[in-house]
Amino acid sequence: MKDWDVMLAPYKQAVDELKIKLRSVREQYQLSSKQTPIEFVTGRVKPVSSILEKAKRKNIPLNELEEQMQDIAGVRVMCQFVGDIDTVVEMIHSRTDFEIVEERDYIKHKKQSGYRSYHIVLRYPVQTIEGEKRLLVELQIRTLAMNFWATIEHSLQYKYGRDIPPEVEGRLKRAAEAAFRLDEEMTQIRGEVQEAQQIISKKQESMRKNR
Ligand code: GTP
Ligand code: MG
Repeated sequence: MKDWDVMLAPYKQAVDELKIKLRSVREQYQLSSKQTPIEFVTGRVKPVSSILEKAKRKNIPLNELEEQMQDIAGVRVMCQFVGDIDTVVEMIHSRTDFEIVEERDYIKHKKQSGYRSYHIVLRYPVQTIEGEKRLLVELQIRTLAMNFWATIEHSLQYKYGRDIPPEVEGRLKRAAEAAFRLDEEMTQIRGEVQEAQQIISKKQESMRKNR
């Protein structure tokens, strides 16, 4: 039996470091009064029970988890607009602190379930007392609407043990279409929204300066 805490510690380190780095990107945009493509960042290490469940489901031997399970470390970047996702993807491509292993565009090619998101699998180096470890990390980049849908759908999958009743499934498909239309509408009024946000951020800036 593995000591999970020891095995997962570098994954936690990778998630913590990437959260800090990506939140710093948001801060840099805000400090330069540019519209940030990043709304917020979350991350998690997959719980042991989920690792075991997925290993069983996908027939992954426990001694091959490091290479066969790409989402033990998971980081999520949420964006306001679909166009922001391209900006974030470009930023990820241009960075030199990790390598890109694989990309999956579930926005151009949405999943059967209705799921949309842009996935990038990274090989991220963490420095440990035993030297460098290069771990796989799954980065998911999505809009707030995509995230809302995925979160709800995930809870329902959990509730129904991946066997969602057809009626609920139908509703979820329609909800996915509604989320898609919401993203399209927001893109249409993006200019308007961003002008409003620019005014607010300028106001906050001048309030900061007058303090
Ligand atoms: P798993 O779906 O995790 O078994 O791995 P996979 O190798 O098939 O990779 P995939 O790119 O399909 O999914 C990776 C991750 O994306 C999942 O762990 C989820 O976080 C998310 N995801 C993929 N499909 C769906 C979906 O239909 N609904 C929701 N809510 N999330 C999904
Ligand atoms: Mg899958």
